[in-house]
Amino acid sequence: MTIISHRAEALLLLCRAGFEADCAAELTERAAAQGQGGYARATRDAGWLTWHQPGQAVAGLLPGPSGGERLIFARTAWPLLGEFSDLPPTDRVSPLLAQVAPWGPFSAVRLEHADTNAGRTLQRFLRGFRKALEPALKQARLWDDGADRILHLFFEDSAQGRFGCAPAATVSPWEQGIPRLRLPAAAPSRSALKLEEAWLCLMNEAERAHWLGAGRSAVDLGAAPGGWTWQLARRGLRVTGVDHGRLAAHLLEEYPVSHVSADAFTWRPPRPVDVLVCDIVDKPSRSLALMEKWLLRGWARVALFNLKLPMKQRHATVSSLLSRLQVSLADAGLAMQIRAAQLYHDREEITVAVLPQQGT
Ligand SMILES: C[S@@+](CC[C@H](N)C(=O)[O-])C[C@H]1O[C@@H](n2cnc3c(N)ncnc32)[C@H](O)[C@@H]1O
Repeated sequence: MTIISHRAEALLLLCRAGFEADCAAELTERAAAQGQGGYARATRDAGWLTWHQPGQAVAGLLPGPSGGERLIFARTAWPLLGEFSDLPPTDRVSPLLAQVAPWGPFSAVRLEHADTNAGRTLQRFLRGFRKALEPALKQARLWDDGADRILHLFFEDSAQGRFGCAPAATVSPWEQGIPRLRLPAAAPSRSALKLEEAWLCLMNEAERAHWLGAGRSAVDLGAAPGGWTWQLARRGLRVTGVDHGRLAAHLLEEYPVSHVSADAFTWRPPRPVDVLVCDIVDKPSRSLALMEKWLLRGWARVALFNLKLPMKQRHATVSSLLSRLQVSLADAGLAMQIRAAQLYHDREEITVAVLPQQGT
């Protein structure tokens, strides 16, 4: 059977509200790099947009075998196949089923909405809708666990929206592109969730097992009060937290954590570490230069850090900073991969991971 998403000519993308233009700029750049062109349809602050490439397949824009890395400003993106509207409140399932049937069977269903105040009002409706939809898909023989074909339904309201489908490897593994994470009471700050989301979104399981476990060492620049340090320490890494501010006392008592009161921009580690993390609020070019220094000097082998983006041209800034990093790593003979994402926990910022290329 043909995988329809390879032929789709449009994408639906979810992003943080206010970042639609950055998402569109990123798509323009990625499409151009593949010798393609297209246009976005977006409304400011909507938290979603569509991307259209008439006559050209969009599959190459997505991660996976035919694409490249994930998009930075899209939490999730999938090939758009059609629209639905005027779903009757008495039976919304039957007309939807009829519309999506030609693309089934499906191995999973994602029910999505914009991450805005208006979008979030749909959550209760979608919980009930799922209870009706999933058994109906099974009954209509439109469900097959082995199909590797995820049905995405995006609702603008309870009567209208868009649908599409995609193989699992090309889309976010989470509905809305948002992993559901809970903050344990022991976490010294909410920022702890950001690092957990970062390694879930930017590293694969093998990389997490390789770099983020017992026997590894880490430095956390701008560590206080210690959410990121705690995340690393509870996975068994030995962590040095660098900050003039104090770390939560229980971190130092219960985990292999030490605190250095110093300026992160001038401090140098007594010996190289495996993992560098940095959550300092500073100019993105300054933060990036600090990461570059650590990687080029061999002080750390992996880096995970934030770049704050308070400016207007956020995509242009990110693109030029990350290109600069790529060139300097390559010039130094370091075979590294750079991955970046605006995570759910990222506001005016993105998170970046720099890892040795697989096999190096
Ligand atoms: C956003 S907070 C970090 C929160 C931390 N990641 C957590 O999970 O709890 C930023 C920290 O960077 C520190 N910081 C800012 N500039 C710094 C510098 N030049 N050297 C060291 N720490 C710095 C601040 O003191 C602050 O504690």
